[in-house]
Amino acid sequence: MKTPAYKDPKKPVEARVRDLLRRMTLEEKAAQLMQRTIGRDVNPENVGPDHPFDPTVGSVLTFTGGAAARNAFQRIAVEKTRLGIPIVWGYDVIHGWRTCFPVPLAQGCSFDPSLAEKSCRVAAEECWADGGVDWTFSPMVEVGHDPRWGRNVEGYGEDPFANGVFAAAAVRGYQGRRRADLKKPGRIAACLKHFVGYSASEGGRDYNYTDISARALREWYLPPFEAGVRAGARTVMSSFNCIDGTPAVADKSTLTDVLRGEWGFDGFVVSDWAAVSQLRIQRFSSDPAVQTLAALGAGNDMDMCDDVYRNVPALVKAGRLPVRVLDRAVARVLRVKFELGLFENPCVPELPRGKTCRLPASLDLAAECARSCAVLLRNEGGVLPLDPKKVKRLALVGPYADSGLALLGCWRGMCSEDRSETPTLFDEAARFFPGAKIELERGVVAGADECVATAAYEKPDRAAIARAVRAARRADVVVVALGETGRSSGECRSRRDICLSPAQEALVDALAATGKPLVGLVLAGRPLAFPKTAEKLDALLWLWQGGSRGAQAAWELVTGIANPSGRLAMTFPRAVGQIPVYYNAQPRSREGYDEYQDLVGENGPWFPFGAGLSYTTVEYGKVRLAARPRSGLRAEVRVKNAGKRAGAETVIWYLSDPESTSTQPIRRVVGFGKIPLEPGESKTVRLSLSRKDLAAMQPDGTRRFEPGEFEVSASLRSSARVDVR
Ligand code: BGC
Repeated sequence: MKTPAYKDPKKPVEARVRDLLRRMTLEEKAAQLMQRTIGRDVNPENVGPDHPFDPTVGSVLTFTGGAAARNAFQRIAVEKTRLGIPIVWGYDVIHGWRTCFPVPLAQGCSFDPSLAEKSCRVAAEECWADGGVDWTFSPMVEVGHDPRWGRNVEGYGEDPFANGVFAAAAVRGYQGRRRADLKKPGRIAACLKHFVGYSASEGGRDYNYTDISARALREWYLPPFEAGVRAGARTVMSSFNCIDGTPAVADKSTLTDVLRGEWGFDGFVVSDWAAVSQLRIQRFSSDPAVQTLAALGAGNDMDMCDDVYRNVPALVKAGRLPVRVLDRAVARVLRVKFELGLFENPCVPELPRGKTCRLPASLDLAAECARSCAVLLRNEGGVLPLDPKKVKRLALVGPYADSGLALLGCWRGMCSEDRSETPTLFDEAARFFPGAKIELERGVVAGADECVATAAYEKPDRAAIARAVRAARRADVVVVALGETGRSSGECRSRRDICLSPAQEALVDALAATGKPLVGLVLAGRPLAFPKTAEKLDALLWLWQGGSRGAQAAWELVTGIANPSGRLAMTFPRAVGQIPVYYNAQPRSREGYDEYQDLVGENGPWFPFGAGLSYTTVEYGKVRLAARPRSGLRAEVRVKNAGKRAGAETVIWYLSDPESTSTQPIRRVVGFGKIPLEPGESKTVRLSLSRKDLAAMQPDGTRRFEPGEFEVSASLRSSARVDVR
């Protein structure tokens, strides 16, 4: 019998898609648009039916059992179904699989997309080989303005441009640089999420309404997705929120007009978990038929886990759903399956017994990423770096001094918080202070279960504080590990308050009263606001959630083996009432007035976007600008390491447009780069901006170049103006 064209790898993908499509029944087509789970989801928010395995479905997510289990199920799909269409296996591989990398928000602070690309590459290789995953629901590229929202941790910060650069890097890391790379072993499909505007949830409350103007959509929320699509992302996840009254899963203007019409996206869109049936909760419609027509018609191709699309065949038969709408969606899903090489290689090679995919090189990369992500925010009197030779006794205090979970954070894949896999700060300390006696004290009464909100996990306790104070008095230096539990940020982890817990406040007060040098390390998945308490710390190093090798990196930074180079990718407010506060805001209408009468003289954030210190001093020369007639401008600046230690300087280029017909943000990022500098070394950093880059955002969301003066600043250290016509 002749091999059908769709099974012939030599045929072009489009011909194979067409051939397969014409052989499929309505039911087979509808099944390709459904995603189901096997086993329990790792995400506690996703409680869904545990369906019996159906080998005809298009996709499975969050199955347990790894590569062997996937292969066993996959064999049924390809050998026992009529057409033998392989299943695409999805999973939330967000910042690693067995090797855990820093959380994405931390990665954003590295301002080094090459590290994000490498870490996504490792994550892809590990989850493919070990878990049989060929599709990750990552990267999340949402611009976050509200640190109360728990999910900022999953994105790269508040800047749309930087999110776009990281989106592209992550896509390249997972998929490879060219579409043809997707077929290679260890490459998986990326998924840009959540499309679009979910991070604008009112009040930072997860799953809330979002009120997004046409301008805000284009200025903040869409650009990172466009960058990811242009980098070749093969899938996109629609979001839970409403876009000005239309639930995103049913929003044709973004899912079809923008994504496909404007950007030429030809992969497929999957809904977020149960988002199609949630159209009932959003009071759009409680009729599954209407939900299906709205979502599929808008361009949401696959239905994640709620089986609403089972209505598809009946809707087609009743003449309510044109078959071409169905075919279009199915073709998109099949296209990606062909591109992944699933028809030729439906199963993944299983690792030999006893072999692990967690390699030393991956762990070294995890340490490098963690070093690059940490942000030094305070260093009074140059207390850091500590000289291990001078430390005879070290008091290591705080609820997170001996926690693996606090290093891993949310979505930690298959990484274990067991100290054998994720050494804690305490586990690693002795290596860096070989001659010192290290005393560990929690300083608060900590619950057994870190999987609860921080305030519930920690209890202020006089006896625990007294023990910590005694240890501090005996020590030469005190290091206190503050922050949040490993489950305090992430999905459905919004906080009404982002202060330190009362237990930690009390602990810092007591430790500060000993007069010993006090170094604060913060493990957290979001900005926290505790400016007054922080003044009692001599140093403040924000570690975020640094992953499998976060503790090693922390001590390397504390002892000066490495030089901190992270910069904040998200603004830190002084107080919750200041939210939203972000760097690329619109100008105020009056100058010289306090923003709040209860924050007199303390205008602006606690730490601005881009903040971050190092152990060396970097000097900036003058920014030099040259206008290029009819094409834009060129900028350059010389940066010099004027200190005695090697380091890396993040040059962030900002553009300001002092006069335009529609008001523009005070400044916006238009480029950045991380420059390694030896002591005494200078380098020239260059930037080129086209008229398109200079164009001013208009109320309807379009950009228009308006000739006139522009200001360019390098890291707010040096700036210049030029007239561009
Ligand atoms: C989250 C997504 C995630 C999906 C699958 C949803 O609840 O919003 O980000 O990819 O679950 O686990």
